[in-house]
Amino acid sequence: MQKVRSIIQLREKLYQWRKQDESIALVPTMGNFHAGHIKLVLAARKKVDKVVVSLFVNPTQFGVGEDFESYPRTEEDDEKKLKEASADLLFLPSVLEMYPQTMDTVVSVTELSTRHCGKSRPKHFNGVATVVAKLLNMIQPDIAFFGEKDFQQLAIIRKMVNDLNISCEIVGVETERELDGLAMSSRNNYLTERERKIAPKLYHSICKARENVLSGVQSLIMIEKEQQDYLASLGFIVDYFSICRCDNLHPAKDSDNEIVILVAAKLGKPRLIDNIYFSR
Ligand code: PAJ
Repeated sequence: MQKVRSIIQLREKLYQWRKQDESIALVPTMGNFHAGHIKLVLAARKKVDKVVVSLFVNPTQFGVGEDFESYPRTEEDDEKKLKEASADLLFLPSVLEMYPQTMDTVVSVTELSTRHCGKSRPKHFNGVATVVAKLLNMIQPDIAFFGEKDFQQLAIIRKMVNDLNISCEIVGVETERELDGLAMSSRNNYLTERERKIAPKLYHSICKARENVLSGVQSLIMIEKEQQDYLASLGFIVDYFSICRCDNLHPAKDSDNEIVILVAAKLGKPRLIDNIYFSR
């Protein structure tokens, strides 16, 4: 696996591959790899000739008081894991390489970015959309892989690619979970031993809500309220627990069939998110 830090080196490498007619995938990440990240790399590996992984802790998607400074940076270990997963190229730009001057251009997927996580993290999705647009422009991959764990992020990227006619297929990869159901996340490391035992209940609560939606006995609002109360009783500070339409993430109505249940809640230091989607 090769490693490059500059956009010039990146473009040289990509140019050689393009000349040989090789198909290229991008897996954008912020590092600190767990099995969820590696699952994206392996999914990419199956689809294309060359797999590029970007590792960049993007400052513009962190809000004031969030964990940009302390975000776990584990480059050596990440590199080892990527080699094992047979990635071809690791792109590791510095902040200065990505943002050499003040950015006057912001990509904002306006409607979707104001909902759910966008309410408590107002500029977050602009930061994500802008950096992903930059990466897609630099690399021009045939296909890019994102985790369904960040369901709203994936929806925003799909909408951006569609709205801006970016010629790249976007693939969502199923959430990788710990044995007890907790969705893998770099931020799980912030949980204390006691909180770690409680954390899987977040997933259990969306599973229970799905069961209740499918049984059709209670109203959707009642189901949301019941699970919010349950999580609060366990010590979670619930940001939102929302039963939504899969396509636009608006609150679901009784007549909607494609459903996603989205949850975000703080447990001690970390804010955890999860989701489950299904048809009824
Ligand atoms: P990061 O949190 O490092 O995640 C990189 C990719 O891994 C994202 O597409 C995310 O959805 C996926 N992922 C995280 N946990 C996962 C899990 N348990 N199972 C499957 N996939 C998982 O998301 C970001 O970085 C950034 O916002 C980024 C898109 C790189 C833009 O800066």
